[in-house]
Amino acid sequence: MAYNLLKGKKGIIFGALNEQSIAWKVAQRCHAEGAEIVLSNSPLALRMGELNNLAAECNAPVIGADVTSNDDLENLFAKTKEHFGGGVDFILHSIGMSVNVRKNIPYYENNYEFTHKGFDISALSLHRVLQVALKYDAINEWGSVVALSYIAAQRVFPDYNDMADNKAVLESIARNFGYYYGTKKKVRINTVSQSPTRTTAGSGVKGFDGFINYAEKMSPLGNASADQCADYCVTLFSDLTKMVTMQNLFHDGGFSFTGVTQAVIEQMEK
Ligand SMILES: NC(=O)c1ccc[n+]([C@@H]2O[C@H](COP(=O)([O-])OP(=O)(O)OC[C@H]3O[C@@H](n4cnc5c(N)ncnc54)[C@H](O)[C@@H]3O)[C@@H](O)[C@H]2O)c1
Repeated sequence: MAYNLLKGKKGIIFGALNEQSIAWKVAQRCHAEGAEIVLSNSPLALRMGELNNLAAECNAPVIGADVTSNDDLENLFAKTKEHFGGGVDFILHSIGMSVNVRKNIPYYENNYEFTHKGFDISALSLHRVLQVALKYDAINEWGSVVALSYIAAQRVFPDYNDMADNKAVLESIARNFGYYYGTKKKVRINTVSQSPTRTTAGSGVKGFDGFINYAEKMSPLGNASADQCADYCVTLFSDLTKMVTMQNLFHDGGFSFTGVTQAVIEQMEK
């Protein structure tokens, strides 16, 4: 059901790779709620071609950008401004990648070249996007930026590897940039800490099935799906959450504040 929550709003959605992607679902929901969007992803992702289907469905242009490149981001914001004839009202940062995870290198043996690359893509990219946006005054007053995080930013989940550090910095950037963008332009910046979700990035983590099943049992409401995450992001882009900023918002069915559940106790007693 749509509520026209984003009627008249314009936004950029980073990170839709395929139908499983959280960003894919967010794009669909934003479109259904009346927003106009621009889709962006890395040149590599664009070559895979699936994004064109989403672009057609949402009537959205695709503008490629490797988020580690300032030139690419400057080009993206310039073209987006041209397309909309002005700034945007919301941005979704749904981007993550760790070479150490991909190559199965344990945290305590991380290759720092890989660590730097993953950090640049997964965490620093939020700072880069915001810095370029601020420089070109590309986000309208009372705009909203959401980046996706995971609870491993704050508690240890073995095998989430260096992505845990990346997410910790991502959440910190949202807080700190949230201060500056808030005081300068009334733009709000938050992270949404989502339940484990079956996507390309998610499934790359070793032992992911265990993660997802454990979280399901440990969450009073069960795991939050990508579609439900999209619903939540829509509320954060809407005018109904104008005073929420610099927060890490858990969207995890209660997992983060649950010590133990009956289901887990029963499992342990088997
Ligand atoms: N899947 C989960 O369990 C889960 C849980 C919590 C948070 N998250 C976060 O959600 C976000 C989206 O991930 P997802 O699970 O939908 O997986 P996904 O693989 O569909 O999305 C990751 C995206 O990052 C993009 N990307 C990678 N390198 C890039 C670069 N250099 N420039 C631009 N884009 C680049 C990829 O092309 C891809 O579209 C990530 O930040 C992820 O960490 C995922």
